[in-house]
Amino acid sequence: MSGSGNVHLRQMARQDVAAGMELVQAAGWNQTEADWNRFLDANSEGCFVAEAESTVCGTAATIIYGHQLAWIGMVLVHPDMRGRGIGTRLLRSAVEYLESRGPLVIKLDATPQGRPVYQRLGFEPEYEIERWKLTATPSLHSAPGAIPLDDDKPDIEDVIALDAEAFGASRSALLHSVHRDAPEFTAAISAEGRLLGYTFGRHGLHADHLGPWVAEDQEIARRLLETFLDRSTGRCLIVDCVKAHPFAATLLGSAGFEFSRPLTRMVRRAVQSGRRSGLVCAILGPEFG
Ligand SMILES: CC(C)(COP(=O)(O)OP(=O)(O)OC[C@H]1O[C@@H](n2cnc3c(N)ncnc32)[C@H](O)[C@@H]1OP(=O)(O)O)[C@@H](O)C(=O)NCCC(=O)NCCS
Repeated sequence: MSGSGNVHLRQMARQDVAAGMELVQAAGWNQTEADWNRFLDANSEGCFVAEAESTVCGTAATIIYGHQLAWIGMVLVHPDMRGRGIGTRLLRSAVEYLESRGPLVIKLDATPQGRPVYQRLGFEPEYEIERWKLTATPSLHSAPGAIPLDDDKPDIEDVIALDAEAFGASRSALLHSVHRDAPEFTAAISAEGRLLGYTFGRHGLHADHLGPWVAEDQEIARRLLETFLDRSTGRCLIVDCVKAHPFAATLLGSAGFEFSRPLTRMVRRAVQSGRRSGLVCAILGPEFG
């Protein structure tokens, strides 16, 4: 790919997913075609590609949760085309689209590379997230404490309702889709009819990805993590945990995970309220929040 002239932006379509996957691979990311389709299913009008000489060289996708919160993800520019303003143009299109949809709080999780681009467009850091990775044999794998949570039969709608409290907005369609693709990673613990924690997970391109991972206390979080380890197919595992969380990183460290890279949750407009933030050990993923 050469030259930055004649780069134009247009809406992303289903047939661009293959090109999107090439950008994912070039960046060493973990998303699959299913993740692109989750954005396109939510609102394809809010997903953009940059095209040069009929070749897709950049992407940005948006998803709106409820009436107040929107997310920007999949901001990717082909390595040969970086530093020419394409990322900034894609992001501006995503923001303009979301602003046309109403007074939304817009958030994203930035890599260190993306952070200055977002800062220039008015995004401010909210808090830090850390990607932890497990490539060695997990010490908790097949631990006898892992609970067969299917026996508990928590209602998925209850889990989705608690996620809305923990995350701060309802993302029902997205979680149903994640659950459909990897039901073995959906786990929940309840006691006396009250839901105490849950997880979802995805089979990514390179790794099984745990998230969201939400728990009322350390014991519930530990049992949920053990269950994920037990059910994962034993490839590389990743978790994007909230850095300030009191015990999430400790649990990951004891299970053999290692710190991989930092991310920054960033927000444009007033910080959204009403989130039970203390519950969240790990987010769903940087692209979805
Ligand atoms: C982050 C990313 C999307 C940025 O895309 P990009 O097209 O390179 O972004 P821009 O060109 O708009 O801005 C990047 C830099 O180029 C500079 N730039 C912008 N227009 C330029 C131009 N015409 N000529 C030279 N430099 C330019 C910007 O000032 C910026 O400088 P910085 O080094 O101070 O940050 C890209 O690096 C990428 O795909 N990285 C890997 C995936 C990733 O981390 N994505 C972000 C997820 S949050």
